[in-house]
Amino acid sequence: MKFVFNGISGRHPAASASAPAALRRVSLEVVAGEQLAVIGPSGAGKTTFLHLVACALKPSAGSLQLGDSDPWALTRAQLQRLRGQLFLAPQVPPLPPRQRVVISVLAGRLPHESLSASLRSLFYPVDIALADRALARFDLSDKLFARVDRLSGGERQRVGLARAIASSARLLLVDEPLSALDPARSKQAIETLTSVARERGATLVASLHHVEMALANFPRIVGLRAGELAFDLPADQVTPQRLHDLYAQNLHELSGPAISGPNFDIAPVPPVVMNCR
Ligand SMILES: Nc1ncnc2c1ncn2[C@@H]1O[C@H](COP(=O)(O)OP(=O)(O)OP(=O)(O)O)[C@@H](O)[C@H]1O
Ligand SMILES: [Mg+2]
Repeated sequence: MKFVFNGISGRHPAASASAPAALRRVSLEVVAGEQLAVIGPSGAGKTTFLHLVACALKPSAGSLQLGDSDPWALTRAQLQRLRGQLFLAPQVPPLPPRQRVVISVLAGRLPHESLSASLRSLFYPVDIALADRALARFDLSDKLFARVDRLSGGERQRVGLARAIASSARLLLVDEPLSALDPARSKQAIETLTSVARERGATLVASLHHVEMALANFPRIVGLRAGELAFDLPADQVTPQRLHDLYAQNLHELSGPAISGPNFDIAPVPPVVMNCR
């Protein structure tokens, strides 16, 4: 599914009236089947960007085209149907603690099913094989019938990603999918997401703190800084200098060989001492 941002600004309803909009005057066009990573320091507007694409936040200025329509000009029912064609995977997946993993994964399909089928599947999961296949892509087959509250944080995050690929969404929006994963699992997760999206011709947008992972796995990189579009470039044109500029005030968030080089003198971050009672 394609989408177009025409000078979009996004302001959170709870934000103070004097604060600048979380995202400001962003214009870009994403064609169906494209894969892009959104990077930038904490607070740059990555999650806000994903929420605007997902129609979870209404633009305060500018206009959004999602597929062939302006979602905010649709009726409620039409907007609901359009939302059913996309999947927004939040950083911390909203998994009910006592639920079985199989139910959580199949919940990814709910927007595509009738109400009666949805209710039935909450009690009698009918497509166990589908959940198993999705979990297998993240090495989690053995957790099919485990309870969600007995999983580690990283396993929970991978269940959230299995739920995303179990959906048949044409637009996958994933917010920080690697934050709870070790390097090997991160690589596996990102390769799975990109290859599933490619197999289906689905559009994939991922916000990532891990810049190396973004550059290695996504052909297009969108850099956000302080709510504005800093760059929108093919991965091979994202130079160390651009990354340095993007993270200028937040160099401690940037690590790995992408920024190593003679021009960057990055002081190591001292350990933080925490007093716990
Ligand atoms: N629900 C909210 N209400 C009010 N302000 C918000 C809300 N969510 C985010 N903001 C503000 O919007 C700005 C952008 O936040 P956003 O969550 O999009 O950043 P981010 O790039 O995803 O950061 P991170 O890397 O820490 O997840 C920040 O200044 C933040 O404080
Ligand atoms: Mg975020």
